Amino acid sequence: MPPAARNRTLMLQEDELPALRRKLQRLDAAVPEASIRDSIICQDCMEAVPHMPDACVDLLFVDPPYNLRKQFSNTSFSPRSAEDYMAWCDSWLGQMRRLLKPDASVYICGDWRSSAALQQVCERHFTIQNRITFEREKGRGAKRNWKNASEDIWFCTVSNDYYFNADAVKLRRQVIAPYRSNGKPKDWNEDETGRFRLTHPSNVWTDISIPFWSMPENTPHPTQKPEKLLAKIILASSRPGDLVFDPFAGSGTTGVTAKKLGRSFAMIEQEEEYCLYAAKRIQEIPQRPHIQGYHDEVFWERNTLALQKQGTRRGESS
Ligand SMILES: C[S@@+](CC[C@H](N)C(=O)[O-])C[C@H]1O[C@@H](n2cnc3c(N)ncnc32)[C@H](O)[C@@H]1O
Repeated sequence: MPPAARNRTLMLQEDELPALRRKLQRLDAAVPEASIRDSIICQDCMEAVPHMPDACVDLLFVDPPYNLRKQFSNTSFSPRSAEDYMAWCDSWLGQMRRLLKPDASVYICGDWRSSAALQQVCERHFTIQNRITFEREKGRGAKRNWKNASEDIWFCTVSNDYYFNADAVKLRRQVIAPYRSNGKPKDWNEDETGRFRLTHPSNVWTDISIPFWSMPENTPHPTQKPEKLLAKIILASSRPGDLVFDPFAGSGTTGVTAKKLGRSFAMIEQEEEYCLYAAKRIQEIPQRPHIQGYHDEVFWERNTLALQKQGTRRGESS
């Protein structure tokens, strides 16, 4: 059956595969930093990381397989005991410590089952600064349990000397009960797109949409993270030109978002199919430079695309 007309999921065509494959690399010996910048490494991260240089990474983003049954292309991941999952996480996180600059930040994703184990592993290697919880609307309801609609991201740093730019990740919130003082808006603004307030981000994120078929960033990867989520992390915890590293890169969301925001990336992913999605997404950045939900240098609430476009039209005509 042909895909629905509005289905914008990225697909690979047979005739583009050779050129995309040439964009991937493997690391079989030590390499300088220049050769991992803006590269997609198609390999088991445990094999590749030992060949990467010391202290080259400014921001590490890790979205590992959670402690669940999940098929990732040719490889299936099976749940294990909490202790075994913790030992597995420790085996790769311990190796990655060496790659980080002294002021680097680290973000590690997990669901409620894996989050406690990840917290303990993070404590062994880093200073934990916070736990972000984001609401994920997508997911099945359950008859005998609460629908699983949240995930955690552990925010850690190598030291207490780290970069954090809260002003770069402000959220544009609709003002429901506008308060005026002497007839003037108090702490809020108004334009053609409505009444709003720019707020500092908290550690509870309710403005995230998990990619789905009508979003142009969507790929067939089963657990793809949204570009908007990565944009918050990259803008808050890296500077333009910094190196953002993702050792479990999947469809390449980290590299795509880093590039769109003027950073460099290094990504490792062991499944060739996913590396090819990543390579194609990187190639298509000039045609699709925007990050859905991040517009005019602020983050917008969910379901405000029409308002964002209205803002753009106003900006263009004035
Ligand atoms: C949760 S997904 C990451 C999804 C990604 N954040 C995205 O936005 O598409 C985890 C990924 O890690 C990959 N993976 C699992 N073990 C790996 C390993 N040892 N080395 C490299 N990649 C691995 C899986 O193939 C899967 O694509």
